[in-house]
Amino acid sequence: MRLLIAHATVVVSGTKIAAEIGTSRSEVWRLVQQLRDLGVDIAGHPSTGYSLKSMPDLLLPDMLVPQLHGTIFGKHIHHHYKIGSTNTVAMDAAIAGAPEGSVFIAEQQTAGRGRGANQWHSARSTGIYCSVLLRPALPPSDVLVLTLATGLAVHSAIQEIDSRVVPDLKWPNDVLIGGKKVCGILTEMNAEITRVRYVVVGIGINVNQSKFPAELQTLATSLRLATGTEWSRVELCTALLKSLDREYRRLLESPDAATSILRRFQERSSSAHGRQVEVEENGIEGVTEGLDARGFLQVRTAQGVRTVLSGTVRLK
Ligand code: BTN
Repeated sequence: MRLLIAHATVVVSGTKIAAEIGTSRSEVWRLVQQLRDLGVDIAGHPSTGYSLKSMPDLLLPDMLVPQLHGTIFGKHIHHHYKIGSTNTVAMDAAIAGAPEGSVFIAEQQTAGRGRGANQWHSARSTGIYCSVLLRPALPPSDVLVLTLATGLAVHSAIQEIDSRVVPDLKWPNDVLIGGKKVCGILTEMNAEITRVRYVVVGIGINVNQSKFPAELQTLATSLRLATGTEWSRVELCTALLKSLDREYRRLLESPDAATSILRRFQERSSSAHGRQVEVEENGIEGVTEGLDARGFLQVRTAQGVRTVLSGTVRLK
């Protein structure tokens, strides 16, 4: 891919590609077929050479890195065409000592994980499946605010690209459009009682899906379905990582950042106040009354105000 992008307007011979990447021409042909299967528009054949017909919307480090200079995410981007789960890869890399700001991206996940026992539908090159590794000097109790900040980062990235789209945040980690889920966030961490060792924030955004499996059709939407146009995943992913970088730095550096995150989250969430909800795992039922100072959802029930510490909030 790197070679074809570097020679985007010309035909590059199979022999040259083979020599540059140290393989045979028949292997080059096989790789080209693989890229075509991924939707990359490549013209030509072994006897003449190959050329890119259009710039592919693949989330390759070469496409992202130049736009991420000065952020913590610009140095260690790992791209996979097909992987089980980017969160699992990121957690494994964290144990092995990968640095803060490492990013793990996949074109396709075969075992994408959602919260609880849920799976995350991760069809090839249609969504963004991205996990970032952070090593914040924060107590574990502050990680909830970090994940709320990630929702805000997704919200701003979408609006930066198309300000007509108004996403709606649902506590703790969903982004909805028209009541359907367009993004889910799975935060996992390894911590001591007072100190986080590392956090992996996994973000799944439905970008260019034109349809979903039957069981998801009433629950999920994509940016393409919501707007009627195809989105650049490269542009959105760059905007997301830049926005997340801003939120994260502010959270570490500014004493007011957590308060600002909680305020902005509630402003961008139609269900944080005054919505009848039921929490699936613990049966709390009532009307939402905003977030407390640590970011937990408050719900007024028949027995008084209850604090939701975890669980899936169902809007009624
Ligand atoms: C949810 O809403 O249940 C959370 C979904 C999180 C999905 C993302 S996709 C990238 C990362 N890798 C995973 O396996 N899951 C997260």
